[in-house]
Amino acid sequence: MIRFDTIVSLRQHLNTLRQHHTIGLIPTMGALHEGHITLIEKAKQENDVVVSSIFVNPVQFNNADDLARYPRTLEEDCQKLEAVGCDIVFTPSVHEMYPEPVALRLNFGELETIMEGAFRPGHFNGVGIVVAKLFNIIQPDRAYFGQKDLQQVAVIRRLIRDLSFPVELVRCPTIRETDGLAMSSRNRNLTSSEREQAISLFQALTMARELLTEGYTPEQTKAAVTGFFNDRVSFRLEYVEIVNADTLQIAGEVLAPGQTAICLAAHLGKVRLIDNLVF
Ligand code: PAJ
Repeated sequence: MIRFDTIVSLRQHLNTLRQHHTIGLIPTMGALHEGHITLIEKAKQENDVVVSSIFVNPVQFNNADDLARYPRTLEEDCQKLEAVGCDIVFTPSVHEMYPEPVALRLNFGELETIMEGAFRPGHFNGVGIVVAKLFNIIQPDRAYFGQKDLQQVAVIRRLIRDLSFPVELVRCPTIRETDGLAMSSRNRNLTSSEREQAISLFQALTMARELLTEGYTPEQTKAAVTGFFNDRVSFRLEYVEIVNADTLQIAGEVLAPGQTAICLAAHLGKVRLIDNLVF
């Protein structure tokens, strides 16, 4: 695996490779876990060259504490990438990516008004900026994103369409711990007691899926999930929504198979967790 810290050196290397090879990109913020690794594995199956980036993108954090607490395990991450057969890792500094503050602002319309868009103002601007930069620097044929961040997938889909990036977006399934907790770099910040309680997110999602399949309305189901977390005092539920899995628009009823998503965000201690189920 070759590691690049600068845009110029990575571009130079890829310019020659690109003529005869397809390139798959997996953008990450590091603290890699099995969820990230499955994205790399899928990209390896579908591309000649796999590039991953590790960059904790300050522009997408709307909370200074969250940015400061974000786990950073660069050496360990590089070893994991090497072991899974990633070809190239891009590890730029903040100054390399943002030599000066970004003036450009991206707004993803309706996607900004619900869930992550509403509760983390400016977050998707930051995600869009960094992913657009990575697309320009690396010019991948395919880019891999996890369903874990379902609204992010919708944002990237819009970015690709609105700016005509010649990139195929590949959505990959959420990888979970054996008890159901969705893997996340932020799980490292849970205390052991919080870690035990964290399965409530997945339990709430599966309960909601059952209620919806039994014929409960989205409103009744959301009320049941809210009650579920009211009984668990360590949690502060931020939102639960039932939406179209592709557009992320609020769904007034259960949609066609594979089209309905239940999404939620909750605070557990100092950690904010998100998860979703598509059914
Ligand atoms: P990060 O949280 O590191 O996630 C990188 C990619 O891994 C994202 O596409 C995310 O959805 C995926 N991922 C995370 N946990 C997963 C899981 N349990 N199963 C499957 N995929 C999972 O998302 C970001 O970084 C950033 O916003 C980024 C896109 C890199 C832009 O800075």
